[in-house]
Amino acid sequence: MTDARLLVGRRVIMTGGAGNIGRESALLMAQHGAAVSIGDLDIEGANETVDLIKKDGGSAFAFKVDVTKENEIKDFVSNSADALGGIDVGFFNAGMQKSGKVEEFAADDWDMLFKVNPRHAFLMSKYVSPILKKQKHGSIILMASVAAVKGGPGMTAYSASKGAITGFGRALAAELAGDNVRVNVVCPGWVDTPFNKPAIDFMGGTKAQESIVSQIVPLGRQAVPSEIAGTILFLASDLSSYTTNQILLVDGGVF
Ligand SMILES: NC(=O)c1ccc[n+]([C@@H]2O[C@H](COP(=O)([O-])OP(=O)(O)OC[C@H]3O[C@@H](n4cnc5c(N)ncnc54)[C@H](O)[C@@H]3O)[C@@H](O)[C@H]2O)c1
Repeated sequence: MTDARLLVGRRVIMTGGAGNIGRESALLMAQHGAAVSIGDLDIEGANETVDLIKKDGGSAFAFKVDVTKENEIKDFVSNSADALGGIDVGFFNAGMQKSGKVEEFAADDWDMLFKVNPRHAFLMSKYVSPILKKQKHGSIILMASVAAVKGGPGMTAYSASKGAITGFGRALAAELAGDNVRVNVVCPGWVDTPFNKPAIDFMGGTKAQESIVSQIVPLGRQAVPSEIAGTILFLASDLSSYTTNQILLVDGGVF
C-alpha cells in the first residue's frame, strides 16, 4: 500500500503553535509526516503541542520567541533549520487582536498590532525565504483574516494589520515564484477560539456575536480550528503545487 501522508520528509517552521489554530495545524501536518518547529511567546503551550506530536509518534521542537523582536526571529529560523535539517514550509500564524472605536484607539496599540501581525510575517519571510530560494522549492503560508477584506465596526486596526499581510503576501509571491517558492495567504472567518474575546466584548457579548454570525455567515456557524488546519495542510503540501499568490477565504461564505 502507498503512503497517503502528504508531508513525509517535509520540515515546517511555524509561529503561534501554542495557540488554537496553530496547534491543530501543527498536529495535522505532523500526522502527515512533517517535522515541525514551533516558535511562540507561550513556551509552555508550545511544549504541550510538541508533547502531543511526540505522543503521536511525530517529530517536533519548541522555541521561545517574541515575534516582535527581529533578533529572536533570526535565531529562531537558524535554530529551526539546524534542528529540522532544513526548511520546506513556513507558516506564519502568530497574531493578536484588539478592538475599539477609531477615535478611542491608542496609537501604541495600533503599532503593537502591526508589530505582531504584518511585521512578524515580513521578518519570518525575510529569514526563511533565502533558505527556500536556495533549494528552489518551498511554501510560505501567511495568516491573515476575513477582516483583511471585509471590515466590521471596532476592527479598523486589526483589519488594517491583516490587510497589510495580504498586500505583502501578493508581492512576496511575485518575488519568489521564479525560485519555485509559493506564497499564499489564508483568511479565516469566525473561528471559535478565545482569540476573539476583544471583538466579542466590543459587540456586546456572546449572544450579540452569535446573532451576527447567524446573519453574515451562510454556513450559519463559526469554524473550529481543525477546519482551518485542513487548508494549511493543503497549502503546505504538493497538492497545491500550482497554487501561489492566492488569498484563500475560509470563512463559511461570509457576505
Ligand atoms: N480565531 C479566529 O476567529 C481567527 C480568524 C481569522 C484569523 N485568525 C488568525 O489566526 C491566527 C491564530 O489565531 P488563534 O485563534 O489560534 O489565536 P490564539 O490566540 O490561540 O493563537 C495565537 C498565538 O500567537 C502567539 N503570539 C501572540 N503574540 C506573540 C508574540 N509577540 N510572539 C510570539 N507568539 C505570539 C500566542 O502566544 C498564541 O499561541 C492569528 O494570526 C489570528 O489573527 C484567527
